Amino acid sequence: MIGCGYLGAVHAAAMASLGHEVIGVDTDPAKIAALAAGRAPFFEPGLDELLAEGVRSGRLAFTDDFAAAAGAQVHFLAVGTPQLPDSSGADLRFVRTALASLVPHLRAGDVVAGKSTVPVGTAAGLLQAVAAAGATLVWNPEFLREGWAVQDTLHPDRLVVGAVDDEAGRRATDVLRAVFAAPIAAGSPFIATDLATAELVKGAANAFLATKISFINAMAEIAEASGADVTLLADALGHDVRIGRRFLGAGIGFGGGCLPKDIRAFAARAEELGRGASVGFLREVDAINLRRREHAVRLVVDAFGGSVVGRRITMLGAAFKPHSDDVRDSPALDVATRLRGLGAKVTVTDPEAIPNAAILHPQLKYVEDRDAAIRKADALVLVTEWDLYRRELTPAHAASLARGRIVVDGRNCLDPVAWRDAGWTYLGMGRP
Ligand code: UDX
Repeated sequence: MIGCGYLGAVHAAAMASLGHEVIGVDTDPAKIAALAAGRAPFFEPGLDELLAEGVRSGRLAFTDDFAAAAGAQVHFLAVGTPQLPDSSGADLRFVRTALASLVPHLRAGDVVAGKSTVPVGTAAGLLQAVAAAGATLVWNPEFLREGWAVQDTLHPDRLVVGAVDDEAGRRATDVLRAVFAAPIAAGSPFIATDLATAELVKGAANAFLATKISFINAMAEIAEASGADVTLLADALGHDVRIGRRFLGAGIGFGGGCLPKDIRAFAARAEELGRGASVGFLREVDAINLRRREHAVRLVVDAFGGSVVGRRITMLGAAFKPHSDDVRDSPALDVATRLRGLGAKVTVTDPEAIPNAAILHPQLKYVEDRDAAIRKADALVLVTEWDLYRRELTPAHAASLARGRIVVDGRNCLDPVAWRDAGWTYLGMGRP
């Protein structure tokens, strides 16, 4: 496993638990040390156990020495493809350098399986370097969700493997089929494609998911203007099996290390292919998404009659979504930062993400304990729907701590009636 970040670490542990012998390679010695000790360097439910079990069994090891890759039959590439600093395209530097480091250790007949999310057409450009070593390149995109990564990897909705349609490509596809024999036997569909289609499945899936969220958030804007309730709308729409209820959660929108950068990179690649118009809607998807963060800020400001200067505002949540300590492009921290910029005294609480948040946004004030964070607040703004806030915080308990009675529900996950009955001014996103 070349690259032991989020994807690589989870995948390495999962492959070991399927019975394979796995060596994870990464250039970051701190990461390697944690993983080798059976500890995930980030929060992911179930991963520590899987890592520890793999390391204990002797099937899972980690190193920063690329030479350790020699002798493996399959080399998964799971390095990051961040957004380029000066454009919306993907930065493929890590894919190229990882491959260059791997190539000298390849043997004839080895399979190199790219897992990183790359612009369509990338794999074709890497074929030659792999073939020159007598090995075969396939593309095997990954669809795991943070917070559900272990389950998604062991029981994927589908497995996609793209290869060149020749003898070596077919053989390499069969090797991957064997690697994933257990999930396939348990019912995960295996879809063999060409390289471009495999790359495109990933981009298209993320584009669709982001579009679904922005669609419902666009409906939230219409609901706000018309007095409708977007959560009831989503329930009613979701009963249509062609639409489905999942990913129709209106609120402050999507963030994280994947959806925002992936839809931008997808649009940038489409431009390069002369098909920018085909995904022009993704610009709207992005714009709607960012507008919802502004809307949440406006709700808070309006609740205070036009100014938040000096107001004590507690942000419930920092992670981009619950069950994760990831704060990359987190809508929660964006809203917090904007409110602080408007003069509010902002306190941020989160059960897992504060260490990461403090690195990225050191100017914000963090309080780990939920109740301590709420004490004397003029308003609560729920921005990450952890159970700690959505289920375990009762309006009466919050009222016993806070000074004010304003709650802004940026994830539409609280019961408006219960909060209003307890004397709170409840403000949702697209709910009257
Ligand atoms: C996503 C894809 O789901 C996954 O298949 C891909 O491999 C990586 O990108 P992830 O980034 O882990 O996974 O998060 P996801 O669960 O998709 O949520 C993304 C964002 O959308 C979060 O900020 C979440 O809060 C938001 N979201 C999700 C909504 O605003 N509304 C919804 O209804 C669902």
